Amino acid sequence: MIPSEILFLKQEDVIKAGLLDMKQILSACEKTYELLGKNEIINHPKVSTRIPDPVNWTSFFNSMPAYIGGDVKVGGIKWASESKQNALTPGIPYGIDITILSDPDTVLPFCILDGTLITAMRTSAVSGLFAKYTAPKNAKVATLIGAGVIGRTAIMSVNETVPTLETIYLCDLDLSKAEALAKEFEGSCKAKIIPSTDSKSCAQKSELIITQTTASKPFIQPDWILRGATCIQMASNEVELDVVRQADQVFVDYWKQIITNPGKAVAQLHSAGELEESDVVELAQLVLGNHPGRKSADETLYCSSMGLGALDIMIGYTIYQNAKKMGIGTKLALWDSPLWE
Ligand SMILES: NC(=O)c1ccc[n+]([C@@H]2O[C@H](COP(=O)([O-])OP(=O)(O)OC[C@H]3O[C@@H](n4cnc5c(N)ncnc54)[C@H](O)[C@@H]3O)[C@@H](O)[C@H]2O)c1
Repeated sequence: MIPSEILFLKQEDVIKAGLLDMKQILSACEKTYELLGKNEIINHPKVSTRIPDPVNWTSFFNSMPAYIGGDVKVGGIKWASESKQNALTPGIPYGIDITILSDPDTVLPFCILDGTLITAMRTSAVSGLFAKYTAPKNAKVATLIGAGVIGRTAIMSVNETVPTLETIYLCDLDLSKAEALAKEFEGSCKAKIIPSTDSKSCAQKSELIITQTTASKPFIQPDWILRGATCIQMASNEVELDVVRQADQVFVDYWKQIITNPGKAVAQLHSAGELEESDVVELAQLVLGNHPGRKSADETLYCSSMGLGALDIMIGYTIYQNAKKMGIGTKLALWDSPLWE
């Protein structure tokens, strides 16, 4: 009989198995985009169940299935959720996710793991990768807007991918959150982190701007972005459409999916007939070296991401393999013996 063993990895296990190592996460993300660009990944656009409805949602569940082929070969799904109520409730994260990994041949699930921290790490690994390929050469000043969970990992990520940074303005409506994060990274981040509530004036001094807020309306206007700077938008809303219109080049993580999200500026411009697939460059093309990213110092660039289930599956699988080697986790069984085989 084929055993139905499932390794359950709670958040503490996932951490022990190396999830907070941003270098490892960046490399897993690059590998994912490489395989995506080579058509070795099946990644359906996420299906979003927004409650009570798509426009006035207060919480949602996203279903994010993917199969990774190439030399990896793993299937899986991330069940990703966010709650606006949680944003106002101490003691519970705004986003909470769980991931299931399955064997593509037997289809047996073999690992269930906390996906919440994976989301945080991989989301900012993506902004870090966008920055690696599109930020001005030798960029010294960046502004990160949003000092929440994704803001924290954004610091970890740009610290690796834009090592020339000397100053990071960390902006949030809530100064205490930015101050706490700046303190947390004292000594471990190459750049000096300066907390602020004044996103506009910080952005106007920056060569690189990365947004990860829970803003429900666009607030970043074209005059916030210096000529020659890169603006990377990781959440919905945030930027006014003219920020995208004024960009010399537009980059997205995955065109097929991002146009399904009406909250994304790219999707809105596409719906309005102003932006087509041929007008944008996907991150996979940058990772594969098929496109150079930034072409000159005076280009103003815009990048946008919606998140890819395949990243969660790839990182989940990396963590599972680490955990197996380290003997971490709790073993579960789907059945002792399948009743109706
Ligand atoms: N692209 C992706 O793959 C991806 C993945 C996960 C999360 N996200 C998005 O990232 C965003 C942040 O998620 P999180 O888990 O860090 O949330 P969080 O609640 O931990 O942090 C969000 C922060 O944004 C701040 N904020 C809200 N409006 C602001 C504004 N106008 N100016 C400055 N700061 C503002 C809040 O005060 C808060 O500190 C969410 O919108 C989420 O949907 C994107």
